[in-house]
Amino acid sequence: MTIEEIKNSLKNGPNDKGYYGDFGGRYAPEILMPNLIELEDAFEQAINDKSFIDEFDYYLKDYVGRPNPLYFAEQLTKKIGGAKIYLKSDHLNHLGAHKINNSLFQILLAKYMGKTKIYCETGAGAHLIATAACGARFNFPVIGYMGKDDIFLQSTNVLKAKLFGAEVVECVDGTGEKGVLKDACTSVLKAWSSDPKAFYCCGSAIGPHPFPKIVQYAQSIIGKEIKKQILEKENRLPDAIVACIGGGSNLIGCIHDFLDDKEVALYGVEAEHSSALTNGSIGIMQGFKSFMLQSNDGSATLDTKSLASGINFYSCGPEHSYLKSIGRVNYTYATDEEAFSAFQLLCKTEGILPAFEPSFAIAQAIKIAKEMDSDKIVVINICGRGDKDIDTAERMLGDKLGK
Ligand SMILES: Cc1ncc(COP(=O)(O)O)c(C=O)c1O
Repeated sequence: MTIEEIKNSLKNGPNDKGYYGDFGGRYAPEILMPNLIELEDAFEQAINDKSFIDEFDYYLKDYVGRPNPLYFAEQLTKKIGGAKIYLKSDHLNHLGAHKINNSLFQILLAKYMGKTKIYCETGAGAHLIATAACGARFNFPVIGYMGKDDIFLQSTNVLKAKLFGAEVVECVDGTGEKGVLKDACTSVLKAWSSDPKAFYCCGSAIGPHPFPKIVQYAQSIIGKEIKKQILEKENRLPDAIVACIGGGSNLIGCIHDFLDDKEVALYGVEAEHSSALTNGSIGIMQGFKSFMLQSNDGSATLDTKSLASGINFYSCGPEHSYLKSIGRVNYTYATDEEAFSAFQLLCKTEGILPAFEPSFAIAQAIKIAKEMDSDKIVVINICGRGDKDIDTAERMLGDKLGK
């Protein structure tokens, strides 16, 4: 790489104020500022400390189960009749989702910093169980904040978190009746503000600086593995990578290592009724500046809805807003119906049960792959497994499931 290329690399991350172009920043209450600065300093120190990175690598391998396979979905490819489809198997990680890459990193960081208590928020519960598990492993009490609706929809994950010793706090919105990921984010920031010495383990590439950078760093293992594995299998880079996006951690994890490889098309797929990048406007909320679904005067978020709790989010990480603004990543959305039929298709063609969240990515990847020649390659990130969603799938399919 030339000095000019290094200077212009899209992988350089935010500036020292936490901005990706015009997006990001650190819009946090005064009381949290010293803690955010302490966190930023500790993060920079830890990633340059060989013993910290060795420990992270060790647990990624022996606890999480990385590297997971890049699997050629031959049956799905035949059925679609276009590009070769590969699946990155983050659903095979310990606890069945990509969230553990980040929880593990941040729990190790909390240990490095001498912290004694962990707060986290969650949507689908994947980040909650991952944080609870790592908390159990490294002797931290974990308090997880979760929306009332998600507690109902993702009850298996709530149970797992409790078995790992975590406390789960139910969160609701202003009506007091319902609660989703946004409400969990508000509650956890409030809790951390009144207990700033604790460690906040943020579950996605959102929040005030340095959280988006920390989460991107931890999740980038996904893209690094994809690059190595596709070069081994095909001796070239893929033509497209597709992942779903809620806050944006699995997507940024998959694509970060490919941002400067202009020949690789990158796709982020939101849910139709929480499509901040397609239908939102720029605003500042919950500590960062990004695209969001908000009222005209920017004083409130709009209600969102999705089959998949994990991507039922009114905004997205600031790096994604930047990548949209420069046109490097194609952001789009899929409907619940498209995702549910993609979910069933992967079950039937490959015997793989994806979570509802990556089913949105599968739906979009099918559309793209169909239009491509058979010598092209599309990679889909299967960022979670669907065990948590089978009760809902059963309710939706009813008699169609058969005897
Ligand atoms: C399985 C799964 N996939 C994807 C997501 C979306 O999060 P992100 O956009 O941060 O990857 C979640 C969030 O809970 C999830 O549980």
